[in-house]
Amino acid sequence: MSPRVVRTAAELRALEGTIALVPTMGALHDGHVQLMKHARPLADTLVASIFVNPTQFAAGEDLDSYPRTWEADLERCEEAGVDVVFAPEVATMYPAGLDDQVMVDPGPLGAILEGEQRPTHFRGVLTVVAKLFGLVRPDVAVFGEKDYQQLALIRLMVDALCLDVEVVGCPTVREADGLAMSSRNRYLAPDERQRAVALSQALDAGVAAGSHGPEAARAAALARLADFGVVPDYVAVTSPDLGDPTPGEARILIAARVGKPRLLDNRALTLGRAPEGS
Ligand code: PAF
Repeated sequence: MSPRVVRTAAELRALEGTIALVPTMGALHDGHVQLMKHARPLADTLVASIFVNPTQFAAGEDLDSYPRTWEADLERCEEAGVDVVFAPEVATMYPAGLDDQVMVDPGPLGAILEGEQRPTHFRGVLTVVAKLFGLVRPDVAVFGEKDYQQLALIRLMVDALCLDVEVVGCPTVREADGLAMSSRNRYLAPDERQRAVALSQALDAGVAAGSHGPEAARAAALARLADFGVVPDYVAVTSPDLGDPTPGEARILIAARVGKPRLLDNRALTLGRAPEGS
């Protein structure tokens, strides 16, 4: 059955039973469909939001050219069993306009990695997610691990602001050659698409070298990126909560431009101790 499209808070308030929410900016791909399928059995009503959030784009970023594929998105939602698509106008999300808003400050974790590259990004992301939680009032919300720092910050926000929403993370969905699915992959020219596999291969190399410690993991990932001529914005090895890495469970994260599109990817890894004297 086609999902019902709603645009206002009043329509959302009429929803009954438990609610699962999958927030998106549209341009839906198989990764989104997996999030929705994961969310489907978690509540009576499955809501997917489609809203290209202006406040998470800085001036000069791709807000205007961000892909908008409304008809195809509705088909993907139907395929995934979505009941309601919430597609608000900008004025519904930002009734006082985009400036001088009350915004969510992401704190120190929002200033590293992606936050260092895009200083206002997470302020916009957390603000819109908080607004979506307030409007949709979900019992559970599902996000992809591909945007790992985003997921970590949303969990922190939910704890810090005492929001009564269970946050569920889902593993990254990949193309057959390992490229993490992303709405921005469609901008890759054919030769860039081939080089884009550098990110997942670099993560594989980092994971394989993890038993020799974090520096070895990072060096292995950097070397694999260099094989493809890809210069990263960062390659970081961290603890699972994005702090300093210690032996045991860890995360390796990469951001790099391949041509114009900026791609992100990450994986879990297990770190050993660095060899003596390294
Ligand atoms: O991950 C995204 O698509 C966006 O950052 C989100 C969470 C929908 C907020 O606009």
